Amino acid sequence: MPSKAEQLNKLNTQMSACSQCALRSGCKNVVPGEGSAEAEIMFIGEGPGAKEDELGRPFVGAAGKFLDEMLSIISLKRENVYIANVVKCRPPQNRDPSPEEAAACWPWLLEQIRIIQPKLIVTLGRHSMERFLPNQKISTVHGKAMRREIDGIGKQVFYTLYHPAAALYNGSMRETLIKDFKRIPKIIEKIKSEEN
Ligand code: URA
Repeated sequence: MPSKAEQLNKLNTQMSACSQCALRSGCKNVVPGEGSAEAEIMFIGEGPGAKEDELGRPFVGAAGKFLDEMLSIISLKRENVYIANVVKCRPPQNRDPSPEEAAACWPWLLEQIRIIQPKLIVTLGRHSMERFLPNQKISTVHGKAMRREIDGIGKQVFYTLYHPAAALYNGSMRETLIKDFKRIPKIIEKIKSEEN
């Protein structure tokens, strides 16, 4: 049985050759995701921006710097977690991914989750939340851990956060995001204690 890292490497190669939607023809690089294949926590954003597209890596611009800062507050580095996006190719002018584009990319994300089997999925922003928790309002559900059964994944714990890019220059949202973020270690502890 190939290791999780080997499975992810193979998947990344397959993703790089994907042309299931029009986004691939308009971007420079596919941004599959990065981090530890053994991660307990998986962060899922919306889609690559300009810097991510340039480098082929997720969350490496201003929002990524803020994400790194919040990870360090809870004594984690990006190498300890896994960071991915709903769509792996940059939408032109950073527009929202269309439902069709998100749907075309969905099997890749599902496969990433199936391989990594994180204890906790942290959704970053409304678009990521909506993929897993439809018909919810982010202003209501942010900072609440929820267990859901998802087709193709099974039971999984989700934790919704505001998107770091949205919170970056909005004082009160920034405070809320940092406060929610600091609760992640306790949530992981609780998940682990319920497993035993
Ligand atoms: N915003 C996202 O949602 N994802 C990235 O990778 C970068 C910015």
